[in-house]
Order: sequence, then C-alpha cells, then structure tokens
Amino acid sequence: MKMITIANPKGGSGKTTTAVELSSLLAIQGMKILLIDLDPRQDAWNALQTKPESLSVAADLGEIAPVYDFIFVDTPTEKNDATQKALSLSDAVLVPVDFSMAAVRTAKRFAEEQTLPYWVMATQFRSRTRFGKEYLLMLESQFGLRWLNAPIHSSVKFAEAAAQGIPFSLMEKTTEAPSRALEDYRKLAELIVQAAAGISVKPKDLSIFYTPNPDRIPRKNGAETEEGVDLNEFDSMMKDI
Ligand SMILES: Nc1ncnc2c1ncn2[C@@H]1O[C@H](COP(=O)(O)OP(=O)(O)OP(=O)(O)O)[C@@H](O)[C@H]1O
Ligand SMILES: [Mg+2]
Repeated sequence: MKMITIANPKGGSGKTTTAVELSSLLAIQGMKILLIDLDPRQDAWNALQTKPESLSVAADLGEIAPVYDFIFVDTPTEKNDATQKALSLSDAVLVPVDFSMAAVRTAKRFAEEQTLPYWVMATQFRSRTRFGKEYLLMLESQFGLRWLNAPIHSSVKFAEAAAQGIPFSLMEKTTEAPSRALEDYRKLAELIVQAAAGISVKPKDLSIFYTPNPDRIPRKNGAETEEGVDLNEFDSMMKDI
C-alpha cells in the first residue's frame, strides 16, 4: 500500500480533480483505492457520489487499512493539522500546478519544503498557446526528474462531471469520442504507478488517525458510537455522513 498526498497551497491548482480522476481510473483497473478528503468543503467527497466499485471515499481520516493498493489524500489550500499528519505518514506527495506562473512558484516553494519524494504535474494545460511549449520546458527545467511528463489538457468536462457528482472517467463511458484530457489522466496514472513502485513505504501507525467523532459516525440502534469501523462497512457508513 502506498499513500500519496495531493497538495499545493495554490488554490484551484487541480488537487481535487486529480485526486478524483486518478482514484477512479485506478479503481476501474481493479486496484483497491481509498480516497481521503481532508478539505472541509469536501469537494472530492461531493464529486464522487457515483464511483467505481473498488473505490472507497472517506470524508476525513478515519479507519485506514493496508488492504488498499493506494491511498490518495486530497488536501485543502490552507495548511491544517490533518494535512501535516497526512504528509508525515505519506510515502510521496503529488503537486499539481495549473497553467500559471503563480502555481509554479508556489509549487516550487512547497516542494522544496518536503522531506518526502515528490512529483510535479501540470493541469489545465492549453497546448494551443504560445506559452504552452515554453511552460512545459520550464517545468522540466525547474523540477527535473520530479516532473511527470503527462500534462492534463484543459477540458470543461471536469467541471461538468464534478457538478454531477461523477468522475469524468466514468462519465466518459457514455460519450462517443474519447477525451484527450482523460487520456492524459490515464497516462499520468501509469506514470504514478511506475514512480510509486520505486519509492519505499514508510512504516505507518495509521491507527493514530482514528478519532471517533460522534457527529460523523452513525449510531446503530441508538447504541453508543463505536470505537472502530469494520472496513467492510466503511463505505456505507461514510455515505450516511
Ligand atoms: N484539466 C482541467 N481542465 C479544465 N478545468 C479543470 C481541469 N482540472 C481542474 N479543472 C477545474 O478547475 C477548478 C479547480 O480545480 P480543483 O477543484 O481540482 O482544484 P483544487 O486545487 O482542488 O482547488 P482548491 O484549492 O480550491 O481545493 C475546478 O473548477 C475544476 O473543475
Ligand atoms: Mg480541492
């Protein structure tokens, strides 16, 4: 099991979209995926009302088990304790940068603070601009081997899919032509799996994250909130939040 936190303190850089699409694409391939949404706005949670079978979603750090192939953690723009904890347990950080110099600068500062292996990727990429080619070259020169060369093209479909509570990668099945942006995410998913194979897994005491919250964990037949959550029940319990 590899735990990858998706973070960049620049707002709107594509963290949630990347967390949702990567999780969905790998789950469609049959991998067992847990996506943790640490953003109080719960954008990833809301975007995944429809999701592939082997994808579990948690609205907060709760019960986590090593049965997963990957745990992805979507983080908010604001630094908070939960994000710091997630980073301390993660095996790597994925830093999405949108098509702006502000995102690159923020990503650079953020990445340099990390003690973990990190990878940088481009989202909302518009190739038909003069800046497009230069931008990719600049990312490559800034981040070298840490730059994942699978830029995600801009597509309005991501916003449409999020609004419908479905990953674009599931919505695509109903449309005729495959989208370039989705092909980009497929390529990125491959690169992530390859890159993840090369990193070591940190020992994790994931139980430290489990703090039962009576407001979030449903009670059964009026019983007190349980101390632990059976993984098999995890999905259905989380749906009740
Ligand atoms: N490849 C893309 N093409 C076009 N729009 C995109 C793409 N990726 C993300 N978006 C859109 O950009 C906006 C910001 O993306 P997203 O929510 O993933 O960023 P974020 O980093 O999670 O933002 P926040 O910091 O607010 O949590 C959303 O409206 C999303 O639909
Ligand atoms: Mg987000």
